[in-house]
Amino acid sequence: MYDKIINDNKSWIDATFDKLNKKLSRTAVSSRYKIPYTTVNGVHDDRSSRPDTWTNGFWGGLMWLMYNATKNEDYKLTALESEKLMDKGFYEADKLHHDVGFMYHILDGANYRLTGDKAARNKDLLAAMSLMSRYNVEGNYIRSWNGKWYGEDNNGWTIIDCMMNIPILYWASEQIGDDRFKKIAIRYADMAMRDHVRPDGSVNHIVVHDTEIPDTVLGTKAGQGYAVGSCWSRGASWALYGFVLSYIHTKEEKYLDTAKKVAHYFISNLIADDWKPVVDFRAPEEPKYYDSTAGAIAACGLIEIAKNVSEYEKNMYLTAAIKLLKSLEENFCNWEENEDSILQMGTEMYTNGIHMPIIYGDYFFTEAILKLKGSDFLPW
Ligand code: GLY
Repeated sequence: MYDKIINDNKSWIDATFDKLNKKLSRTAVSSRYKIPYTTVNGVHDDRSSRPDTWTNGFWGGLMWLMYNATKNEDYKLTALESEKLMDKGFYEADKLHHDVGFMYHILDGANYRLTGDKAARNKDLLAAMSLMSRYNVEGNYIRSWNGKWYGEDNNGWTIIDCMMNIPILYWASEQIGDDRFKKIAIRYADMAMRDHVRPDGSVNHIVVHDTEIPDTVLGTKAGQGYAVGSCWSRGASWALYGFVLSYIHTKEEKYLDTAKKVAHYFISNLIADDWKPVVDFRAPEEPKYYDSTAGAIAACGLIEIAKNVSEYEKNMYLTAAIKLLKSLEENFCNWEENEDSILQMGTEMYTNGIHMPIIYGDYFFTEAILKLKGSDFLPW
């Protein structure tokens, strides 16, 4: 069934990949010495002066994805430049935060897994060790952010996004033959399953924990979504993809079941709006804000679910992923030469940064298309 659906959509998948390759092989050269976040008048900006920026791994990570798919050296050269710029993040260790998986695992970690580069492996291990150091042994969670978040103390906060950071811990355990990393990742996934994912499959972005008493929730926060109790769609997509990744790394069925539950909620909400993801699934109809990036991330997760469920379940998840990606391509992709970014209409959060290209949109859209092309390289 999986192969038949891929075959039925082959011409669209191939044509979309060709368009990606055409644009990215140009920007791989023109943006080689930058770390883009968005575009200004169609040209990539550059965030390399702030190596602690959580999104800074995506550009180089995207280059590694495309290098693996094409073996075009331009992609590799740009990925290596990105790594050099991101090395500076280790010079100020107190600025490192929970997002080191986004920043280093898909960058240096991808390099090591694709080329065997030992220095890149070492940096990925250092990133994993820094994530381990964020574990609160009394509260039993990995702390998010440093210092304050919009003026609030965040010592007890966890965020659903971190489900995408913990794969670096599974990897580190496997690399050094020490289960401690994996055990902390499992604790985090269990906490997120219990405290972030609601019974109906919607998701809390931020959960506030007691910092001294284990497994004690003090409340939740709207975070990047509309309100307390709403469902920020990118948060849901982090959960959807993150839980299937935890399943892949641990083979614990409960994580696959959780990914499926969030997927069912996500898909139901897409049907209401022609497969275009809004920023928050539980927000007023107007103003209508979209977030294409949530769709691209969810599509990656849906494809991985499809690969991991039984034969007669595959159709639903894979067909949903393809419908979602086709909607993103038709409604939100810009293939023009005068624009460096690809996926438009990303949104940073409900109250800020609305409808703009953001680098992780391009990253996950490309990762999803490469999965459909048959790539078995899983960067997470
Ligand atoms: N991890 C932060 C975000 O998704 O915007």
